[in-house]
Amino acid sequence: MVQVAVLGYGTVGSGVVKVIETNHDSIMEKTGVDLRVKYVLDLRDFPGDPIQERIVHDYDVIVNDPEIRVVVEVMGGTEPAFTFSKRALEAGKSVCTSNKELVARHGTQLQQLAHENHASYLFEASCGGGIPIIRPLRTSLTADVIDEITGILNGTTNYILTKMIDEGLEFDDVLRDAQQKGYAERNPEADIEGHDACRKIAILSSLAYGKRVDFTDIYTEGITKISSADIKYARAMEKTIKLLAYSSREGDEVMAMVAPYLVDKEDPLYSVSGVFNAIFVHGNMLGDAMFYGQGAGRDATASAVAADVIEAAQVLGTGVVSDWKPEKQLLKDVSNTRKPFFVRVPGDASQRQEMEAIFGPIEVVDAGVDGEYGFITESMTEAEYESRASQAEGILSMIRIREK
Ligand code: HSE
Repeated sequence: MVQVAVLGYGTVGSGVVKVIETNHDSIMEKTGVDLRVKYVLDLRDFPGDPIQERIVHDYDVIVNDPEIRVVVEVMGGTEPAFTFSKRALEAGKSVCTSNKELVARHGTQLQQLAHENHASYLFEASCGGGIPIIRPLRTSLTADVIDEITGILNGTTNYILTKMIDEGLEFDDVLRDAQQKGYAERNPEADIEGHDACRKIAILSSLAYGKRVDFTDIYTEGITKISSADIKYARAMEKTIKLLAYSSREGDEVMAMVAPYLVDKEDPLYSVSGVFNAIFVHGNMLGDAMFYGQGAGRDATASAVAADVIEAAQVLGTGVVSDWKPEKQLLKDVSNTRKPFFVRVPGDASQRQEMEAIFGPIEVVDAGVDGEYGFITESMTEAEYESRASQAEGILSMIRIREK
């Protein structure tokens, strides 16, 4: 029997207990692992809940109990989650988590600590919720050189953009509605400013490229500036707008960025709608692969955490290793990366020569919006775009265009 402690009986924690208990027999049959939740750590009590008998308020009870072999950290945030994870690993217990903030910030150190103590630090649920992506990167795709990861990694922003596109609504109105319905956090900053997607692409890139990608080095833009006018142009171009978390490798050079992109109908990411997530991976032998599914939600996330618990239980005393070295991966400056840009300017298309003189050949887009027009530039570097845009008066908005 493998005894487990769950830190935090919130949405994900209660889901993990549910998965382990509901699917106990099928897990046992498939894997031979007999999982039991011995303790749940929470500040609160849960009278009437069958878990109440196993609630503890003191972490020492868990960390000092030699029967506990796996700790599930689903508290979120950095502290006390970091301290608790370190203490568990130092005691030779494996830790499984959905805590993307902690993995992005301290994942390197926690994996090293796990290795030193013959334990595992696993985090499948930290990216893409229930979508298996960490394990494929760690195991199934090790024969490949991964050279691109592009993800729709944040369900909240994908829900907001999908609503704006389907219903022609403004960002603020959709956000307010999403908050009222519980789809968006009351403090949605980490989602809408792109920070959540940034942490997730840092985690995926560290695994795929083998060195620590520091999320604070990643150029990040959120979706707060996207307006219903942008959406009208996107529709006129038969494209959609997605918040993409992108990273690529060429030789030793890695670049990463998070920003809203116009995505073409032919692109596999085009039809990833609502709260769904998708991760597109390109490998030098594999070619294209896409992982798609529920990027959040109690049961989907809990299912990914529980799968980690099973894996940790299967390798007790040795631990899972990954190709995520502590050495820092330097990131290429995004200003040297090329793409076409979509730009909105005041005036009308008869004044296009003015813009052509600045940007070179452009393709005008007419979305029927009064007092302005839009155009697509040829592919150019971010630095070239910035330098040209500084010569143009009153640019209303710019959105990058994803090229496949
Ligand atoms: N806030 C996250 C999202 C939750 O919207 O995708 C899952 O990590």
